[in-house]
Amino acid sequence: MSIQGDKSERPPFFKLSETPVRLTTYLRGVVSDPASVIPADIYDQWVAPPKIPGGPLVITRPETVRDILRDKDARFGRNKQLRTMMRRVWGKGLAAAEGDDWAQQRRAVAPAFRPDRVAKTRRAFEQATRTAIDQWPTDQPIDADVEIGPIVAAMLAGSILPDLDPARGREISQDIPKFVEDMTRFGLLDLVPMPEKWLDWYRGTGRTKAEQRMRQLAAAIADKRASGPDELADLPALMRGHGPLADNILGFMPAGFETTARAIGWGLFLLARHPEWQERLRAEARASADGAERPLARQVAQESLRLYPPAPIMVRSAICKTEIEGQRLKPGQVAMIAVFAMHRHRRLWDQPDMFRPERFAPDSGTNLDGFLPFGSGPRLCIAAQFALTEIEVALSEIVRNRQIEAFGPEPEVSLKITTHAVNGIKLLVRPMSTSPADMILKETQ
Ligand code: HEM
Repeated sequence: MSIQGDKSERPPFFKLSETPVRLTTYLRGVVSDPASVIPADIYDQWVAPPKIPGGPLVITRPETVRDILRDKDARFGRNKQLRTMMRRVWGKGLAAAEGDDWAQQRRAVAPAFRPDRVAKTRRAFEQATRTAIDQWPTDQPIDADVEIGPIVAAMLAGSILPDLDPARGREISQDIPKFVEDMTRFGLLDLVPMPEKWLDWYRGTGRTKAEQRMRQLAAAIADKRASGPDELADLPALMRGHGPLADNILGFMPAGFETTARAIGWGLFLLARHPEWQERLRAEARASADGAERPLARQVAQESLRLYPPAPIMVRSAICKTEIEGQRLKPGQVAMIAVFAMHRHRRLWDQPDMFRPERFAPDSGTNLDGFLPFGSGPRLCIAAQFALTEIEVALSEIVRNRQIEAFGPEPEVSLKITTHAVNGIKLLVRPMSTSPADMILKETQ
């Protein structure tokens, strides 16, 4: 393998447009698939000015991005479209709430994600992974996007959401993307001023099977946990009395499920391309006591989040007339934070497209200013440490006694809502006792 990393070593990524897009494509893209209209030179630029007056400004410079997200001077916030989208997924729950209501809900749930609590859940995460992967087929390829669902469901059930039935993990992992895509789809009618109820009716909110199943599941857990012992200190116990419980349970599912599942899927895909890292993680897992930290697996988790950030774009909009990166913004104008481009930015990273987990080693000296998989500022992902630990444990436990190989054509990457593979990530997962050499021997017999 080349030290510099040749082209064949580069994992696939979303192809940004090399040529200027037509105005109609641009307008459609801005609303429905923002990454599709970001110019290819963004990996080398700190800003891409709006293509039309009042259009979105794309930003990648870490200091500017942090200023926007920190929102020190109340210059940036959410516009109407973003508020509507958040309301559809979260109702009046945490991520949709604002001001004092948001602060109160955030404080209430914070204890569930404290570092000491997260450290204690490691064993539950290990157990969840071991049980779920025992069900994985070994004689046919798996679709990681589907099979990781039960692991994440079991991890949530073993920690902050004990009422979730891990057996529904596969179904939930298929329902969530449909639910989120439906809730975040925007059309021109969304720009017309009309009561939100009418808009919901027109869009058919609540009519898809996936949405109905998700809402029923959240409502059933909320009903069951409307009262009961508080000493459990899990999510429903902490959130009860602080915001609407069913809304929060519903919102926490896409926030806590799809993002983590995507990250584990990409981590496995990268490990499949790098057997040398599988070996290192395997040795680390076998030498580690249950519940112990796995630093190498952590580095792989972080590098996977860099190359394939589950939340590829964050959006804020100007609240008042303001100026950033020499560009004047009008109230309501969108600042698009291109996390996926920051994570591979030519001016921020050495060998930006290459899988180099060692850049996250504590003594590597890597500047991590441009690493923002969990956002920044007051809305920073409340579960950042929890999620990193989930990914670390899952990757480590999966390769402990199994060998992962990529299967089929290279995935086609989409950045629509989450960074995902359009047709899933197909992998061959073999128990270590069946070495690839044995398999080839069997096939030729
Ligand atoms: C790899 C996994 C994850 C990634 C990449 C991720 C990413 C993010 C990002 C980027 C934000 C900030 C969005 C913004 O500022 O506009 C966010 C917020 C949030 N995340 Fe995560 N997340 C992950 C896992 C989780 C998990 C496991 C949970 C819960 C169990 C969770 C719960 C939340 C909540 C509640 C918020 C909103 C916080 C607020 O508004 O105060 N996330 N996440």
